[in-house]
Parts: sequence; structure tokens; C-alpha cells
Amino acid sequence: MSFVRSPRITVFPDTGTAAAVVAARIAGALQQNPSLVIGLATGRTPVALYAELARVTAARRLDWSSATTFNLDEFLGVPPEHPGSYRQFMEGHLFRHVNLRPERINFLVGTAPAEEECRRYERAIAAAGGIDLQILGIGTNGHIGFNEPGLSLQSRTHRVELKPETRQSNVMLFGGDLSNVPAEALSMGMATILQARSVILLANGESKASCVAQVVNGPLTTSLPASFLQLHHDVDIILDAAAALELEREHRSG
Ligand code: GLP
Repeated sequence: MSFVRSPRITVFPDTGTAAAVVAARIAGALQQNPSLVIGLATGRTPVALYAELARVTAARRLDWSSATTFNLDEFLGVPPEHPGSYRQFMEGHLFRHVNLRPERINFLVGTAPAEEECRRYERAIAAAGGIDLQILGIGTNGHIGFNEPGLSLQSRTHRVELKPETRQSNVMLFGGDLSNVPAEALSMGMATILQARSVILLANGESKASCVAQVVNGPLTTSLPASFLQLHHDVDIILDAAAALELEREHRSG
């Protein structure tokens, strides 16, 4: 008898090696299924992955024209063409380097009426047949997408108030001025994320180490939204050595 262990944890010596392995997995999945539906994340963590995907796409002439993407989140009130928007982040790091069809790139629009926009997004994900492979980063407070810690979590795409630490970690997108960082955002919900068929969570650096250890070994708790990934049957957690430090400490001390 065999059983599936999820999350599976893989530690790489550095971010570059991790990015190359994950990019190769995505490229392979895309070659096997050209109509792959991919969930994408923003933040500093996936930057190396997107660079590697751009490189692999050029080297192997990867065809993205039948693939579909859904990004996790966007700032409320920020138009898609704003330089601080997640949409522009994705254009720069990935979209302009691959031949995704514009109509197959799905994004929450920060300037649309929020409640209807969230419903539209859920309908679009369902119409695409659900997400095959969801890429995630993790906030230092354990958030995924913009599902912030709290007394409860929302299951579906929703409007969210950002925590001060989350606004701070996004400050460089808004010229380094915290007062320019929106107070709210739109985000896929926890159930939206957990319904992806496979999930890859990336974490780099020592600032994520304690969070990662809690995600793997801690209780399920709304105060660490990523802990709910323990409920998913197919999660890979891909770490660099620094992000794995606390897990290794726990392992050594039994
Ligand atoms: C933002 C995004 C998250 C991301 C997180 C981590 O808040 N909404 O999806 O995972 O930042 O960012 P970084 O990778 O820069 O640490």
C-alpha cells in the first residue's frame, strides 16, 4: 500500500536552483497539456522563477498560446496600467516574455466594482475548468494571496483590508512611500486556492523560516492562513536553505 505525503518539502541550496527546477516542472506540464490553467503569484519570491520561465520559453520555444493564467490578487483602486499594479509586475516579469493570448490572461481589476468583480473572477475560474497548478509565495505573517491572518478566513474571491506588515512589504511597488500603498485589495479566497489541482509554494530567505515551519508542523489556524495547505493532497513546498532553517532546527531537536 502506498500513501501520498503532502506537503512534500524540497530544499535547494539557493533560489536560482529552486527556480530552475520549478520552471522545468511548469514547462513539462505545459508541453504535456498545452491548455494548462496556471495560477500565478506576485512578490519578490517568484521573480527568479519567472526569469527562468522566460529563458526556458526562448530556449525550448515553449508555446503558451493555449494556456490560461489567473493571478491571485490585485490592489483595490489601482488600475491595471498603474506601474505599482500586480498586473504591471506580471507584464514585466512574465507576460511580455511568453506568447500567452491576452484574452487568456485573467486578472482581478482593482478599479472595477469590487463585489461584482470578485464574483466575475470565480465564474471565470470555473469556466476555465479550475486551476491545474497554483504557484504561491508566502507573506511573513503567513498570508497566501492576500488572505490575511484573522479570526476567520473567506473562502471565495473577496475584498480584503491589508495588514500594516503586508503594506510595508509592498512599499517598493509604490515608490517606497507607505502612504501610497493601498489599504485594501482583492484576493482569491482560501477555497479558491485549495481547489487548485496542484500547488507549489515557494519561500526564500530566513524571514520566512519560522512561518514555513509553522505551515508544515503547526496547527491549522486562521492566524496563519498558509497552514490550511496541510488540507491539500498535492502541495510542494520549495525552499532555499535559509527558509528551511527553522524546519531543520525542529527536525534536529526531534
Ligand atoms: C504579497 C502577495 C503574496 C506574496 C507575498 C510575499 O503580499 N500578495 O502573494 O506571496 O507578497 O511577497 P515576497 O515574495 O516579496 O516576500
